[in-house]
Amino acid sequence: MAMTRHRVLVAGATGYLGGFVAREFKSRGHLVRALARTPYKLNHINGELDEIVKGEITDPESIRSICDGIDVVFSSIGITRQKDGMTFRDVDYQGNLNLLEIAKKAGLKKFIYVSVFDGPNLLHLDIVKAHEDFVAALKASGMNYAIVRPTGYFSDMGEFFDMAGKGRVYLVGPGNNKVNPIHGADLAVTCVDAMEGQRQEIDVGGPEILTFREIAALALQAQGKRVRITSVPLWLTRLIVSVAKFFNRHEGELLAFLTTAMTSQVVAPVTGSHTLKAFYEDCALRATKQ
Ligand SMILES: NC(=O)c1ccc[n+]([C@@H]2O[C@H](COP(=O)([O-])OP(=O)(O)OC[C@H]3O[C@@H](n4cnc5c(N)ncnc54)[C@H](OP(=O)(O)O)[C@@H]3O)[C@@H](O)[C@H]2O)c1
Repeated sequence: MAMTRHRVLVAGATGYLGGFVAREFKSRGHLVRALARTPYKLNHINGELDEIVKGEITDPESIRSICDGIDVVFSSIGITRQKDGMTFRDVDYQGNLNLLEIAKKAGLKKFIYVSVFDGPNLLHLDIVKAHEDFVAALKASGMNYAIVRPTGYFSDMGEFFDMAGKGRVYLVGPGNNKVNPIHGADLAVTCVDAMEGQRQEIDVGGPEILTFREIAALALQAQGKRVRITSVPLWLTRLIVSVAKFFNRHEGELLAFLTTAMTSQVVAPVTGSHTLKAFYEDCALRATKQ
């Protein structure tokens, strides 16, 4: 049976996950338009995209015609490390809502959105609340949708690699909680499958279930370091989070999210084939070439 060639808008392609998703859509023969506020950030993949459109998701006027000629929208736009003075509410919620309104008016077939694993149970965290409030708006919109809720990305596991490079990894609490982190390429397969599939809410994680202590050890070993791990007591971390929130709510909330992730079980249905050991070995190889 011949495959339907869809015209897809990828919002977030300048980021870790969105880049893999844009390439996955393309590799399956779909037409890909990428929305970017800083198009030069797509230079490394622009040969793999059909169109790049400059626009700001937080400025609806600048993306007024972004969905013209498009069938499906994928969005992984959200604040992770960006420090441009905007809040999770401004970007993760309102920005995506602006895009949803435009997609609805243009009569698109489907909106695929990336939230956070266990989001509905973590609404006390600003970042998760912004994501899940958008999810509620998407569900109420009448549009066909798929919500993907992944565990931690390999890109975030890079934090442990960076600490390991300095000889010691600091964990929140004993680090015995389990997580199955996922590589962007594996997650992209799930996101693109969601376009054709009927599932509306998809929990997903990577192929290996590891404790944070095991992750720390992998990050150290990949760089030929002795395994040196320090557990920061939870009470101390909570104190640091409160102080951080007092001085800068946004930074404090990011820290609160990381603390919650490191002290909870973050295990979702398993998919993919990329291992963290191979990822860290690759990071180590690149570091030696620099
Ligand atoms: N990282 C994780 O472990 C994890 C786990 C579960 C869920 N998630 C969620 O998955 C999504 C994607 O994560 P990621 O790691 O791919 O993030 P990322 O690499 O930081 O990419 C985020 C994307 O959002 C865009 N963005 C951020 N602030 C913006 C703003 N003010 N205006 C317009 N665009 C803006 C970025 O554009 P610029 O390049 O222009 O900044 C980028 O394209 C996020 O919503 C995140 O919360 C992440």
